[in-house]
Amino acid sequence: MGSNYRIAPSILSANFAKLGEEITNVIAAGADIVHFDVMDNHYVPNLTIGPLICEAIRPLTDAIIDVHLMVKPVDRIIPDFAKAGANIITFHPEASEHIDRTLALIKENGCQAGLVFNPATPLDLMDHVMDKIDMILLMSVNPGFGGQKFIPEALAKLKLARQKIDAYTAKTGKKIWLEIDGGVKTDNIAEIARAGADTFVAGSAVFGAAKESDAHRYDTIIGALRAELAKV
Ligand code: DX5
Ligand code: ZN
Repeated sequence: MGSNYRIAPSILSANFAKLGEEITNVIAAGADIVHFDVMDNHYVPNLTIGPLICEAIRPLTDAIIDVHLMVKPVDRIIPDFAKAGANIITFHPEASEHIDRTLALIKENGCQAGLVFNPATPLDLMDHVMDKIDMILLMSVNPGFGGQKFIPEALAKLKLARQKIDAYTAKTGKKIWLEIDGGVKTDNIAEIARAGADTFVAGSAVFGAAKESDAHRYDTIIGALRAELAKV
């Protein structure tokens, strides 16, 4: 399954004064996905980036832009992100009045859709909307900030999510990605993969390496994450 793993650096930890360069460098170093964290100082206690920035970075790469919406209400911003070039849009069920309707809205706007589960949010919220889901994102920290510690309970939850997804895929043939977000590092990524994740958000692990002056810093860290995944 090694080649099926995808690494998604979260630009939340990038240097925003040179964001374009950061994205180009990280993709050149072998990252698969740009993870784009949108926070509204309402659903989560932080304020980050919106559709304007998504539109600005879109021409820099063909890589998937994975927009993680931590905003409430969520529906009205979805068309703007679709127009700005998002490929995948995920949202937290707590931020939507009607989960099925929000998923449908994302798909009507031409994007792949996903649900995000906070550490304490039960997974059964996905059960009746699997037909509209392309990705499940499990939070292994409480959303709002980069650089937090991985919550170990997320491993058991990943195993359960993997069972649900595999059962659905066996029945329908439909592929659903399983992404993990928060505290992913070289020393835990293999264990996280064994628990069932196939897509790995890494913010501080990847962009934290930028404090070094080495021009190949992103090759080094992404190579190290891939080397760990190769052991799985
Ligand atoms: C947290 C964000 C994450 C975060 C990950 O709310 O959704 O994507 O940036 O950062 P690290 O990898 O540093 O935990
Ligand atoms: Zn995120």
